[in-house]
Amino acid sequence: MILAIETSCDDTCAAVVTAAGEIRSNVVSSQGVHDRFGGVVPEIASRHHLELVNAVIDDALERAGADLGDVELVAVTQGPGLVGALLVGVATAKALAAARRLPLAAVDHLDGHVAANFVAPDPIEPPFTCLIASGGHTLLTRVTDHRGYELLGQTLDDAAGEAFDKGARLLGLGYPGGPALSRLAAAGDPGAFDFPTAARVTGLDFSFAGLKTALLYKVRDLGEEETARRAADLAASYEHAIVEALIIRVERAFAAESDPRLAIGGGVAANRLLRERAAALGVPVHIPPPDLCTDNAAMIGSAGRYAEPVSFPDYLDLDAYATAHHHAL
Ligand code: KG4
Ligand code: ZN
Repeated sequence: MILAIETSCDDTCAAVVTAAGEIRSNVVSSQGVHDRFGGVVPEIASRHHLELVNAVIDDALERAGADLGDVELVAVTQGPGLVGALLVGVATAKALAAARRLPLAAVDHLDGHVAANFVAPDPIEPPFTCLIASGGHTLLTRVTDHRGYELLGQTLDDAAGEAFDKGARLLGLGYPGGPALSRLAAAGDPGAFDFPTAARVTGLDFSFAGLKTALLYKVRDLGEEETARRAADLAASYEHAIVEALIIRVERAFAAESDPRLAIGGGVAANRLLRERAAALGVPVHIPPPDLCTDNAAMIGSAGRYAEPVSFPDYLDLDAYATAHHHAL
């Protein structure tokens, strides 16, 4: 059994996963305390991880019907993310592993999002193209092996989920606003306003900063009353632009492939329009269940199955890292 820990942002997560990729438990404690600040406050996130991590691990073991004696490998997110938050998970993982002389797998958070596709009962085998779109990351990858991926494109500025959240804020919808913006959009006309999809950014990189600015100007032009009256149309047009920006890059990536298949991960995978547009591409589409798309530790345990384990005591000086290390295989 693999005990996995994920604390890269504001969710304190622990899971028990088997070497065969079966999830025995997957516990997420969402801090929730950040919403009123309109974003995650790093120092508050670290402090809450410290308070929650032991209870969340106990809960994951108990739900799995296991105890520490059953654990053969500890997997933990090493980065990218908030360093103070990551360090809580890394220090906890080291302590648990070292006490029993267990090996430790240091997992990249983005490998985790990809590896969410490898867990039972509905795994997908490489090769496939994987789009990861969350509040912190937007990347397009080619997965040919369980151990990693080739980076095809990434965002040059905001992440797709961040674009949803910033748009939602401009429309007065609160934080995180992606789901609320999407609900409002369902009643609007996606063709009402013409927002940019950064189609001119050639290749497979994404850019969402111009889109957010376009909405800001449109809201200013319209004024408060008219913005409120046309909120559904604004939301629908804005959502349409984000989703098209994602789909355009996926289609570009497919142009180089003979037998394309698509997997989607990250919180934005919950988006209804993105799911519809992906389904209409005419290729097999794999989207893990929502609790495996948003941040969770089961995906870290899944990636831990393919990572090179570090034996005791070599991991004791392991450090967290803040920014993405897109490693080629
Ligand atoms: O993966 P996630 O839970 O956390 C990280 O950022 O790592 O992703 C959260 C992001 C937020 O930006 C949220 O607004 C967005 O995913 N999101 C959505 C939807 N559900 C979540 N965006 C659009 N439509 C949704 N239904
Ligand atoms: Zn994530």
